[in-house]
Amino acid sequence: MNLEELLNYRRSVRVYDPEKDIDTQKVKHCLELATLAPNSSNMQLWEFYHITQEDLKEKVSKVCLNQSATRTAKEIVVFVTRQDLHRKRAKYVLEFERDNIKNYSPVARQLKRIKDREVYYGKIMPFLYARFYGILGAIRVLITSTVGLFKPIVREVSESDIRAVAHKSCALAAQTFMLAMAEQGYDTCPIEGLDSRRMKRLLNLPSGAEINMAISCGIRKGDDGIWGERCRVPFEEVYHRK
Ligand SMILES: Cc1cc2nc3c(=O)[nH]c(=O)nc-3n(C[C@H](O)[C@H](O)[C@H](O)COP(=O)(O)O)c2cc1C
Repeated sequence: MNLEELLNYRRSVRVYDPEKDIDTQKVKHCLELATLAPNSSNMQLWEFYHITQEDLKEKVSKVCLNQSATRTAKEIVVFVTRQDLHRKRAKYVLEFERDNIKNYSPVARQLKRIKDREVYYGKIMPFLYARFYGILGAIRVLITSTVGLFKPIVREVSESDIRAVAHKSCALAAQTFMLAMAEQGYDTCPIEGLDSRRMKRLLNLPSGAEINMAISCGIRKGDDGIWGERCRVPFEEVYHRK
């Protein structure tokens, strides 16, 4: 299938065929491909919990309100944001970028580029991602609103804005995963109808982790797998050429 065919093939599947197994290693590979998704500042504040054990899968399905899409799934992946890992990730990316610049930038520009990255990942990212009961976000909003009086600036810097940033990027990884799965002939269904608190407890996640979505996996069961024709509002309603 080419990309357009894949996009048409991918549907949210609610009933999987119990007779058709999927290869756990292939699903894992699709998760590796998911990490190629674009993500904000390349911070990669995501984690994937690949549920393959039968007993755990049953518990995860219950936390997903026992929807048929999880109850009949062969495997489930839980996409998690890890804003709390921002320092670790920023450090990793900075180290990588240092070598990147040394290997690929003209010598005359290397020092400045490295300094820029150090400011970005060493100062701006820790400042932007830090959370403390909304207070740090309020300070950031105050600063950006003031600077914004004089020049264009990113204004979505409150603590809830930054949460959204982490979730946006994680959702792009989730979509990349679903397309990679479709290429294998595997079906998926994204699930946000779940009890996030129970899911965190079940997966033993730290308090800084947040559930982005679960994605059930399997192979659709004939015509029962999907709920009829795909519904999309007319394209003219959402497309605005300026
Ligand atoms: C973030 C997100 C959460 C979703 N949560 C659920 C869910 O809890 N249960 C479900 O059956 N479908 C869920 N869906 C699937 C949507 O209902 C589905 O994508 C939509 O109806 C369009 O259908 P399609 O995916 O087949 O194109 C979710 C989709 C997204 C993107």
